[in-house]
Amino acid sequence: MVEIRTVGVIGAGQMGAGIAQVSAQAGFDVILSDIDLPRAEKGRSGIARQLVKAVEKGKLAQEDADAAMARIRAVGEVAPLGEAQLVIEAATEREEIKRAIFGNVGPLLAADAILATNTSSIPITRLAQAAPDAARFVGVHFFNPVPVMELIELIRGLGTAPETVAAVEGYATALGKQVVHAFDAPGFVVNRILVPMLNEACFVLGEGIATVEDIDKGVKLGLNHPMGPLTLADFVGLDTLLEICKVLQDTTGDPKYRPAPLLTKYVEAGWYGRKSGRGFYDYSGPEPVPSR
Ligand code: 3HC
Repeated sequence: MVEIRTVGVIGAGQMGAGIAQVSAQAGFDVILSDIDLPRAEKGRSGIARQLVKAVEKGKLAQEDADAAMARIRAVGEVAPLGEAQLVIEAATEREEIKRAIFGNVGPLLAADAILATNTSSIPITRLAQAAPDAARFVGVHFFNPVPVMELIELIRGLGTAPETVAAVEGYATALGKQVVHAFDAPGFVVNRILVPMLNEACFVLGEGIATVEDIDKGVKLGLNHPMGPLTLADFVGLDTLLEICKVLQDTTGDPKYRPAPLLTKYVEAGWYGRKSGRGFYDYSGPEPVPSR
């Protein structure tokens, strides 16, 4: 079984940076890549800010923060990823983008290196067809915010070898995360359950049944969830949520996964949630306020 020492992360956005951070804090060397160096550096600077906050709160020693940062190398090209024993793709949730990445990175990987995807819903078996070896391809699904959320879902495609799952489970455990295993099925376990709930909240709003605040308050207080569903949808990203709904609908053919018209409309308007400054809430002021 391959010994994982260096982790390559493709995509330095919210998820990729989080994965790079927890990997570096767990002692792995990290190569954080994006389509250009400024984007990769931006992801790395975001990690530095998170670590500064942790030091200020007294939750992390300054030397541990410095050591973690020293383990993270930001790169604007794919070539250095050939040094990694585990490469995790955390790019945009679009199949053609992920396939193109695997086509570029695949030939660089060592013969025993593992290629993993942090896809939220795209079938692993299908994505594996764009990877160099389906046996060394696996789904490793992190949750946002990565440093806080304890779970990693490990999803095996039809061709994923047990040694691949075991090696990635060892890595996940070294990060201090809990693992659940899932066979390859649309949405796996957690998003299969979460996404219809968030989508339903969009229907409830679109049908004028309650206000943004009351939908969130209802679920937060009535179900003891840390965030209401519309706040969580904004947090996940409405574009990502819409893509997952579409994957669930297309892969199952089941109309119960059809995206709420209001969700589609918001995405068409460029209202992607927190990351674009506006979704169900407007984030331009000191406190989020409902957009409508
Ligand atoms: N990065 C790192 N740490 C963060 C963070 C971030 N982005 N956001 C919050 N934190 C930390 C804070 O620093 C704080 O740490 P401390 O206790 O050591 O001081 C702790 O988390 C709690 O934060 P806050 O006090 O600011 O706020 P809350 O108590 O409201 O917690 C939350 C924030 C942890 C995000 C909480 O609201 C929560 O758990 N929300 C639900 C998140 C969730 O459901 N995520 C899964 C989304 S689905 C997904 O990712 C799958 C994908 O495929 C769609």
